Amino acid sequence: MDVLIRADYDQMSKTAASRIADLVRKKPDCVLGLATGGTPIGTYKELIRMHREEGLDFSKVRTFNLDEYLGIGRDLDKPYPQDQSYARFMYEELFKSINIPLKNTRVPDGLSKDPEAFCVEYEEAIRAAGGVDLQLLGIGGDGHWAFNEPGTSLASKTHIEALTRQTLDDNYELFYKGAGFSRDDMPHFAITMGIGTILSAKSLIMLANGKKKAGVVSAALEGPITSQVTSSAIQMCAGKATVILDEEAASSLRNIEFYQHKEKLKATL
Ligand code: F6R
Repeated sequence: MDVLIRADYDQMSKTAASRIADLVRKKPDCVLGLATGGTPIGTYKELIRMHREEGLDFSKVRTFNLDEYLGIGRDLDKPYPQDQSYARFMYEELFKSINIPLKNTRVPDGLSKDPEAFCVEYEEAIRAAGGVDLQLLGIGGDGHWAFNEPGTSLASKTHIEALTRQTLDDNYELFYKGAGFSRDDMPHFAITMGIGTILSAKSLIMLANGKKKAGVVSAALEGPITSQVTSSAIQMCAGKATVILDEEAASSLRNIEFYQHKEKLKATL
């Protein structure tokens, strides 16, 4: 695992975007695993800039998103994307501003009539696409990856998950409050890729920024591997995981100096 520490959110986002752009140039039909939340917004902004100013071409890229709330989604009866779904988030924050065909983008279907069957189908679709080349991840306040809340098996595949109070509180602030929804309007379940699904990606980039994430980042990277902090599974990603942090999110790590030393050494290879 490589840990890259950057001065601030902007630098963290630029480093992540440049890694994603390198892959898109090298493999124009690559499969990207994408995340929602506040953390990747700067990365998506930088990818949009690269598309507009440098002609970064997404026309053959395919994407699979990590998760979606159960009960909401791309509802054709509503003026899509006027809802609080992650499908809407992806459209607003990235897809509408780059040249990716929407048919190449998949977000779990929160409105599926048979969510259990959908989970199996989603796994199959990822496999049929050749697997995820690069999975982008944030980390939740309770250490989750995607919506894999504490106690979820580290071998889990795409499944339905109940959300913790902390996740509901965090996401209420981010998505629902400003849109005038009450706390009770929030879905309490989600469809999520499992930790096993995430670990099967060919490479992973995990992002975290801000003081608020410092404790959970140190638990995930330097604490025990445990289903109580599902992102601690990153420690099992031999040679394929990169963690990009701003200084605040890195501030509780024990081995900061070594991570910085290793980055400098690797640049000389
Ligand atoms: C979103 C996702 C979540 C977020 C996490 C952090 O698709 O999978 O695990 O990455 O909750 O959210 P933010 O970035 O809002 O702190």
